[in-house]
Parts: sequence; structure tokens; C-alpha cells
Amino acid sequence: MPGLAERVNSLKASSTVAFAARAKELARQGVDVISMTAGEPDFLPPEHVLEAAREALRLGLTKYTATEGTAELREAVAAKFKRENGLTYAPDQVLVSNGGKQTLYNAFMSVIEPGDEVVMVAPYWVSYPAQVQLAGGVPVVVTARAEDGFVPDLADVRAAITPRTKVLLINSPSNPTGAVFPPELVRGFAELAEEHDLWLFSDDLYEHLVYDGKFTTAAAYVPHRTLVVHGASKGYALTGWRIGFGAGPKPLIAAMNRLQGQSTSGANSLAQHATVAALNEVEKTAAFQAMTRAAYRERRDVLVTGLNRLGLSTPLPAGAFYVMTDTTAIDPDEERAAIKLLDEARVAVVPGTDFLAPGKVRMSYATSLEQVREALQRIEALLG
Ligand SMILES: Cc1ncc(COP(=O)(O)O)c(C=O)c1O
Repeated sequence: MPGLAERVNSLKASSTVAFAARAKELARQGVDVISMTAGEPDFLPPEHVLEAAREALRLGLTKYTATEGTAELREAVAAKFKRENGLTYAPDQVLVSNGGKQTLYNAFMSVIEPGDEVVMVAPYWVSYPAQVQLAGGVPVVVTARAEDGFVPDLADVRAAITPRTKVLLINSPSNPTGAVFPPELVRGFAELAEEHDLWLFSDDLYEHLVYDGKFTTAAAYVPHRTLVVHGASKGYALTGWRIGFGAGPKPLIAAMNRLQGQSTSGANSLAQHATVAALNEVEKTAAFQAMTRAAYRERRDVLVTGLNRLGLSTPLPAGAFYVMTDTTAIDPDEERAAIKLLDEARVAVVPGTDFLAPGKVRMSYATSLEQVREALQRIEALLG
């Protein structure tokens, strides 16, 4: 067989997927596993969005849409940013893609030259360094500490900037830590971007999952150099529908659109129609988001209190649906700790290795309160 390209040979498979697959395989064998690996809401999408999807079928919306997304959806996205974030975008400053993941990939491919550096905060979402490397760039990592609730120190970000830096990346609320950056820190990133003439990519996917404090987007400070990365997956419980959107300066959006036109030709027509309802039926969506937020908050509180009581040190995250737990009491090595949790306690988690979080695992509480309580009992039994 002929060989494969170096760019894929050096690409690591996601450990999140590997551990989720291992848990699924055990479940298939009839083992009762509690999965806390999920990066997606356990709720069904709201009924008005499901109904809009049915309507899309009835209307026969089965053709390719414009590469950049339908005019209706781009207008709905622009209206969302105006209404919720006070940001003004023309429809041609909005690009709809196959998930926030493609929005980010388009963006890195559009701005990175070989050797350009992207400053990102660890523990990080594993796709950031992978996508930067695929684009020929170099990830530069700033480590946020557990004792600071995984909120990074701006002085560390400043120290990471070099003449090769091209992009600062913010993800708040964060996957995998759940940290929410305070407004003054987001402003600090914006000022650094301005001072050093950098792009600022603001991954706002978890905007609607904030329990304490306030969500702030970097675009509020320097919209002329910020790309907002957003989408329907997390806050609207539409992960499998694969709708992401980016908003930012026109030349960047146009470049991303050219790239998209030669790769995926844009997003699914039915899902785009349904997402218009998710964004435009404001009161129904707000009620859904309030309901899910209250449920996540209760689970978070039970989980974090329980883990700390068991001696597994866990900062209280202000957002998203993840906690980062210190598992050195189970095993100093986080991969071995994750395997013990799965094989002996039947609780599936993701080791922090690929997030750059040694000695820690990520647990998702996008699962029922009963499962969260049961997981704590099983971990207690494991710890003896
Ligand atoms: C931090 C972060 N950004 C972006 C995404 C992309 O999500 P999607 O492609 O489903 O929109 C995810 C999904 O896990 C995420 O956790």
C-alpha cells in the first residue's frame, strides 16, 4: 500500500473518543458503565427546533444552500449577536459552517503561515493544537493553575507573545476546565492583541452555560481583529446537527468562505432551517436554556461537593459542563487513574493527558443527577 502523508501520521487520535469508545464497548457487553466522557448535552433539542426541522422537510429544503449559509440563518446569527452581545455584524460578516470545529479550522487555515505561533491556554480543548499544526502553525501554551480555578494569569499570556505570534485564542467558558474568564481578563487579552497587532479568536461555544459571574466575549473590546466562534451544539443541544458560525472582519470571513467552498460547500440545509428557529424564537429558546442551566448547575454542585468530600480536589467551575478533578489519590498517573475508574468503579472519564492536565481527569456532568450521585458512590467504594 502507498504511504500516508506526514500531516496525518503525526496527528493523534482524540483520547476523549478513545475512552468514550472503551466505555461504549463495555456497555455493549452488558456492563453497567456511567459515562462521564460526553462533550454534549444529554437533553433533546427544544420542541420548536424539532418542529422547524420537520417543516424543512415538508418545504423540501433539500438542495445545496449558499456556501456561506442561508441568508435567513446569517441574519438570525447577526440578530443574536446584536441582541445578546451588543455586537453589530452585517450578514456578510457571518459564515455558517459544519460545527464550530469547522469554523475554527477555516480560521486557522486562513491566517496561519508556516511557523506562525498561536497562544492558547492549557488545559485546552484537544482540537486547538491539532488544528494549528495542520495549518502549519506552532501552538504556544500558557498554563492555567488549578489553584486559580484554571483562570490564566495575563502576565503569562504576555510573556508567551513573540515576534512570530499571529493569534491569541480564548475559550471561556472553557472545555475542559469550565473556567469563565472575568471581563477584565478578556479585556487584557484584547489589549495585548491590539498592542501586538494579533488576531483574537474567541471560542464562545459555551456562552449560554454560565452559572456564576458573567459571560464576556472578546469581540466586545476589539471587534475589528476578533473572530467569534460559535454554534448550535452546546447551548441549543444540537450537536449532531453540525451547525457552527463565525462572525468577524469581512476579509477574514470572505477567506474562510473561499476555503469552505473548496472543502465542504457549506452546512446541511435542513439543520440550517431548524437553527433559524433556535435563534429567532427567542422566548422559547431562553426558557429551554434556563431549564438546562438550572439542571447543570445542580449536578455541578452535587459533583464538585462530592468529589472534594472524597479527597479528590476539584475547583468549582463557573461554566460549561465539565470538572477537572485531581485523581492522584487514585493513581499518580492520570491514564492509569482513568483506567481504574472505568475498570473497577465503572465510571468513564477522560484522562487529562491530551488536555495538558497531568494528574487530572475531565468529568462531564451532561448526564442525569441520579448518574452523578451513583458515580460518586462508586468512586467512594473504589477509594475504600
Ligand atoms: C471548546 C470547544 N470549541 C468548539 C467545539 C466545536 O463544537 P461543534 O463543532 O460541535 O460546534 C467544541 C466541541 O466539543 C468545544 O468543546
